[in-house]
Amino acid sequence: MTHSQPVLSLTVHDIAFGGKGVARHDGKVLFVPFTIPGETVTARVVRQKKNFGEAELVGVAEESPDRVAPACPYFGSCGGCSYQHIAYPRQLAIKAAQVEQTLRRVGKLAHVPMRPIIPAPHPLGYRNRIRVHVANGVTGFFAHGGHHLVDVEQCALAAPVVNKALRDLRHAGVGEGDYSLRAKGGGPYFEQTNPEVTRELLALVEATARRGQALLADAYCGAGLFAKKLAAHFETVIGIEENVSAIEKAQRATAPHEHYLQGDVGAHLGEVLAAHDAARTTVLLDPPATGLDARVTDLLLANLPAEILYVSCNPGTLARDLAALSRSYDLAAVTPLDMFPQTAEIEVLAHLTLRDARSEKLSS
Ligand SMILES: C[S@@+](CC[C@H](N)C(=O)[O-])C[C@H]1O[C@@H](n2cnc3c(N)ncnc32)[C@H](O)[C@@H]1O
Repeated sequence: MTHSQPVLSLTVHDIAFGGKGVARHDGKVLFVPFTIPGETVTARVVRQKKNFGEAELVGVAEESPDRVAPACPYFGSCGGCSYQHIAYPRQLAIKAAQVEQTLRRVGKLAHVPMRPIIPAPHPLGYRNRIRVHVANGVTGFFAHGGHHLVDVEQCALAAPVVNKALRDLRHAGVGEGDYSLRAKGGGPYFEQTNPEVTRELLALVEATARRGQALLADAYCGAGLFAKKLAAHFETVIGIEENVSAIEKAQRATAPHEHYLQGDVGAHLGEVLAAHDAARTTVLLDPPATGLDARVTDLLLANLPAEILYVSCNPGTLARDLAALSRSYDLAAVTPLDMFPQTAEIEVLAHLTLRDARSEKLSS
């Protein structure tokens, strides 16, 4: 179903998660990549599903004023980026609107206290690591919408030192496989990929966390990024993380009041919260994209720590989890951060405070 399909004229009215433009034809939603809301484009349907279709962009008849020339010659064929055709301020506006809409629609949150999105100081050349694949004589990334590799000499998102590692890899004539190319060291555990926006996130978390609290429980703590940054503000800090190497790294240089537990957050968080005064406890959550297990949400609602800082890389699962937590918590602020410019990925910090039971009684 490609060239046999007619070329349609479509008006793009939104951008969906994942970065594709949303248009309508014959009452059905069509997703068209590399478009911008407000544009009129020509496109051809390449996949039909029951409730929607996928189309490929043929041409742009009426361009958005925010359309720009992509920085990278592989844009459109390489699957790594979705937004290089969009001026950076518009990318930021699209991401901020998606967060707010998702929290309203999926999270059913009537009031979403959005704060301005924090931009990346450098929207290109920011990644401190990339994962490239070598197969059939090709070194590069998976193609947009496909499983074959696109041969990539340089990645516009990678820091110069990472691109040097890519050049070295290409010249070394290595065997087939996956290669993680890093700016420095690192280990077999999660690390943030954009150091500049990570600094912004750390500063925001530090400025947001309540002072005078006894406990910081850093759930999904990795190698202790947040726990270590915030340790000076708490009497006790406890990090929980399942990755053994990350926990070993976190434990390498600790203050006396800083502790790390290796294992599942669902298995450890309950005993940590039960052993401390909930009114003086702050919980920081930074789960993987799947968000919180129902068990973790239940533990939070059973123990009611005074404050929750939720760092999310997936607005959809964040919305689901905030909907559950909104039974006992008020959403104080939602701040998107552009950790991954040129891509459709969005990072968010949500600040929740325990709803005051007395004020609820007074108002009822
Ligand atoms: C998004 S990363 C955040 C890591 C850390 N906060 C940081 O910024 O470097 C999520 C972390 O959760 C860990 N993780 C995933 N599921 C977990 C679970 N059920 N229990 C404990 N840790 C888990 C992963 O190993 C990963 O280190």
